Amino acid sequence: MATNITKTLGSAPVVPLVQADDPAIAVKTSRALAAGGLTVVEVVFRSDRALECLKAVADEVPEMIAGAGTVLSASQAEAAFDAGAHFIVSPGLDDGVVAIAKERGAPVYPGIVTPGELQHAYNLGLDVVKFFPASIAGGIPAIKALSSVFRTMRFMPTGGISPGNLADYLGVPAVLACGGSWLTPAEAIAANNYDKITTLAEEALQIAAQAKGDK
Ligand code: 3PG
Repeated sequence: MATNITKTLGSAPVVPLVQADDPAIAVKTSRALAAGGLTVVEVVFRSDRALECLKAVADEVPEMIAGAGTVLSASQAEAAFDAGAHFIVSPGLDDGVVAIAKERGAPVYPGIVTPGELQHAYNLGLDVVKFFPASIAGGIPAIKALSSVFRTMRFMPTGGISPGNLADYLGVPAVLACGGSWLTPAEAIAANNYDKITTLAEEALQIAAQAKGDK
């Protein structure tokens, strides 16, 4: 699965965040993203029913590779895998979370900002990390500086990514994919406007294709 997700992200390098407190909404949002061509979705643990939302997406939207985001502890990581997560994303680097993912043979993308955190991730055997919060942690220059030292590491910047800067981030060779919430605006969901989400997904893929061509 690790290789498949990395490969999938190579062709559709965008990871949308799904934040819902209703499984039916998480499913509708994920289907709208899939209709726009995206293949990976991160259901974030930021609501009381996040686990149910993740399970619903994993069970009912098989065209999407569903993972869990905002995973803060090893016990949350266990619960996420039990609910059907194929990967884990964390805002920070926690050895316990990484250990659970390794036990399950699944990818984990912990957030890092500093060289020390990145070196720790490297020595835990990771080769892809989240770079969070990207826009206020130095953005593209920071990723370039880190990747000049950690030459095998790939980055998934999140935090402040938008259609306006997506191409610039994806144009950095060390960037595997970008993540973010811009694809799933709360207003569109509240207005039952899932076409908007499909349109945003299509737009992101067009930007990604262009950026890939320019790399
Ligand atoms: C995350 O969890 O990755 C971030 O909260 C996403 O940040 P964004 O809302 O700026 O996309």
